[in-house]
Amino acid sequence: KVYTDYFFDEPAFNTHDGGYIPLVEADAPQKPLAIPPLLKPDQETETDTWYTVDAQTGESQLLPGAKTKTWGYNAPLLGQTIVFQDGKHIHVTLKNDLPELTTFHWHGLNVSGPYVDGGCHAPVYPGETKQIDFTLHQHAATTWLHAHPCPETAIQVWHGLATLVYVKDEAESKMPLPRNYGVDDIPIILQDRRFHENNQWDYEADYDPDGVQGPTAMINGTINPYFDVTTQKVRLRILDGSNRREWRLHFSDDLEFAQVGSDGGIMPEPVYMNKVMITCAERDEIIVDFGQYHAGDVVTLYSDDVPLVRFRIHDYKPDNSKLPDHLADITYPDVTPGSQVHKVTLDGMDEQVALNGKKFDMQRIDDRQQVGTTEIWEITNTNDAKNGMVHPYHMHGTQFLVLSRNGKEPYPNEHGYKDTVGVNPQETVRIKAKFDYPGVYMYHCHIIEHEDGGMMGQFQTYTPTDPNKKYKLMDMDTL
Ligand code: C2O
Ligand code: CU
Ligand code: CU
Repeated sequence: KVYTDYFFDEPAFNTHDGGYIPLVEADAPQKPLAIPPLLKPDQETETDTWYTVDAQTGESQLLPGAKTKTWGYNAPLLGQTIVFQDGKHIHVTLKNDLPELTTFHWHGLNVSGPYVDGGCHAPVYPGETKQIDFTLHQHAATTWLHAHPCPETAIQVWHGLATLVYVKDEAESKMPLPRNYGVDDIPIILQDRRFHENNQWDYEADYDPDGVQGPTAMINGTINPYFDVTTQKVRLRILDGSNRREWRLHFSDDLEFAQVGSDGGIMPEPVYMNKVMITCAERDEIIVDFGQYHAGDVVTLYSDDVPLVRFRIHDYKPDNSKLPDHLADITYPDVTPGSQVHKVTLDGMDEQVALNGKKFDMQRIDDRQQVGTTEIWEITNTNDAKNGMVHPYHMHGTQFLVLSRNGKEPYPNEHGYKDTVGVNPQETVRIKAKFDYPGVYMYHCHIIEHEDGGMMGQFQTYTPTDPNKKYKLMDMDTL
């Protein structure tokens, strides 16, 4: 079966928003798609690996003419790709070379909150260096690192503070999937920007409380990219790294592809489709088979009718292997009998946004769950069915499973581990979640301006021996 549907509620796509900014193909020459270099460890042993992640300012040649002022991790824009091995003890030196404070949030990593997780309670001040360390227990996945100082997350991500973090494990390394980085295993970070005078970005000028957008697509920090295809099959690890934009992805000729991974890992089976919609912070891993094309052909990835990446086909060795019907075993504990059902409402739009009717407060704990139990969270988007938006709901500290949408089956590509799920207006999405570490974590809409605007809360995970453990929580003022 091949799905030919974007699944999400048509009236809620951001194209229907009053402030919607359509994408327009940039008037600039095509350039090779930038492939971020892999971050080299500082040191490595059998059991431990050390890295340094340096948040820095820089300049990037994005368009002909003036360079654009940008921020990045170990790079002028976005960052080097970080690869963590499951089971390893990881040490990271976090270095802030920016003119303002930032935090380093590991979106999708199974680490303790609130300090290692790097939400708003873990500031690193300008010129400062901090150390974190953790042992990684997690399935192979495409996760990411981004800045998360509240309420400045959106502007820092807009400046460029976002990079991919791959988790590798035994099980995935045995699956018949492309994994030659930069050759047949390609990161695709989808973002959009508006270029102002002298090719500069101007977040304040573009500000919209429902999410900042720009008309120009930027993929891995490249405007008008092409990619030279030298293998029949290519794995694309797609991240919606934009502040607000939903991307409706499809290829020329309605070329079919297989989604094999979601936010938190490889899915139970490949899902064949020729369209996919990705919302903010989600990741989709897809396998594209270019077997019907020949050297000299060009296959284009679009969002709606705007070209994003042109795949230039070269000679390749035929590879007509089929993906197995079964990929990953998804094991998740049953819901703990007698546990509470957590209710979350995502409310309002514009400056009115709230979670459970309240604006985010850094000093308030809004919910609690015991470490090791599996509990249901019911997330309701209270927006009006006609004029509302899809709110991408994200939780730190977990990979959850989606159980239902308004009592019906989740979408066919939602049967794997997720940390972010789009919730349609007037819809209730049920998920089950478990947490491995005690801590304080945030949960929020991942339209980043909604998060900064207060559509966010925080919950405490606790062990029975220390249910009321106190964490040092920052205040807006103490930042
Ligand atoms: Cu992608 Cu609270 O984060
Ligand atoms: Cu996160
Ligand atoms: Cu939202």
